[in-house]
Amino acid sequence: MKKNTPRSPRPQLPPRTVSIVGTGSYVPPRVVTNAEFEARPELQTTDEWIRTRTGIRERRFAAEKENTSDLSAEAARRAMAQAGVKPEEIDLIIVATITPDMPFPSTACLVQHKIGAKRAACFDLEAACSGFLYALEVGQQFVAAHTYNTVLVIGAEKLSSVIDMQDRNTCVLFGDGAGAAILRNRGDGSHGILTTCMGANGEHADLLKMPGGGSKHPATHKSVDARLHFLKMAGKEVFKQAVTAMNSAGTEALARCQLTGADIALVIPHQANLRIIDALAKRIEVPADRIYVNLDRYGNTSAASVPIALDEAARSGRIKSGDLVLMVAFGAGFTWASCVIQW
Ligand code: ACO
Repeated sequence: MKKNTPRSPRPQLPPRTVSIVGTGSYVPPRVVTNAEFEARPELQTTDEWIRTRTGIRERRFAAEKENTSDLSAEAARRAMAQAGVKPEEIDLIIVATITPDMPFPSTACLVQHKIGAKRAACFDLEAACSGFLYALEVGQQFVAAHTYNTVLVIGAEKLSSVIDMQDRNTCVLFGDGAGAAILRNRGDGSHGILTTCMGANGEHADLLKMPGGGSKHPATHKSVDARLHFLKMAGKEVFKQAVTAMNSAGTEALARCQLTGADIALVIPHQANLRIIDALAKRIEVPADRIYVNLDRYGNTSAASVPIALDEAARSGRIKSGDLVLMVAFGAGFTWASCVIQW
């Protein structure tokens, strides 16, 4: 793909009401390289296989006592510091996760206590890897409707707690981390969310799931012996669905804003597999230098993937004020979501 393609003149855009006024992210310090998996003879895997089939070189695993709420709280503190928002100003906390600290209470309530956001209403949202973009859409509705002034949206996962270290098809793919964004109405109409799209198809729910721990298979000795409390994925089938859904979610968001790939300064895709990201780039005709990739360093962090990438891109200057950014995600459910935002 051609690099540094010039962008087309920016189209006339409608006024925006809801902006991201601060971002933050946190990944645990422990780096797990592909070599660590290669060193386990029972997995019969190699660094070369993992790199060429997925694009992943390493990922982070949280410490035993570091849970999703801890990762979330650190990402939230960094977003609050950047936005200049005090904990008591936060009206609502939404945590998107498939690895909550526990089934209840919600991880959002645990985060509220950890960051001291005493006034905030709290709930978790579950849409797997699309979770952050789902939460962004939900959060922005509250701000747009003037129900709340300040909403904290977090995508966070401790996937190392649900991956089966005996299953080479899945254990090499995932990592831990958290990303956060603070939503507000800046009142100038010139920065913020232009559109968000969400979709789902429950028909293929069986292809990617964690069967145990819910009401269908509560924890029993049998469920533990059958390894039901680990993530299961039919990788090849999921791959096909991911390519189709990422492509259509990306094109739908652009079409809704009457934009093309040429208008987009940076695409932030869900980081599951470099081949899925490449297919999206080709479909929406965006050159590789305008696609953000950190999959090589973090693997697939599910709901944390898009907000970690967004925070890194914003802090490193890859996104500048006024830039149009497209975010696209796909995950278990299946779910998919996309968002165009003017930074
Ligand atoms: N090391 C070595 N060989 C492996 C490994 C491994 N770690 N994993 C699988 N293989 C083998 C398989 O056993 C298979 O061998 P066989 O041909 O002898 O049966 C061979 O490699 C090819 O397996 P495929 O599944 O066809 O490999 P594929 O190229 O499809 O890559 C992958 C697998 C990486 C999982 C890919 O399918 C993928 O990325 N799927 C989508 C993931 C995704 O998008 N998930 C959605 C979000 S996740 C969420 O919501 C929580």
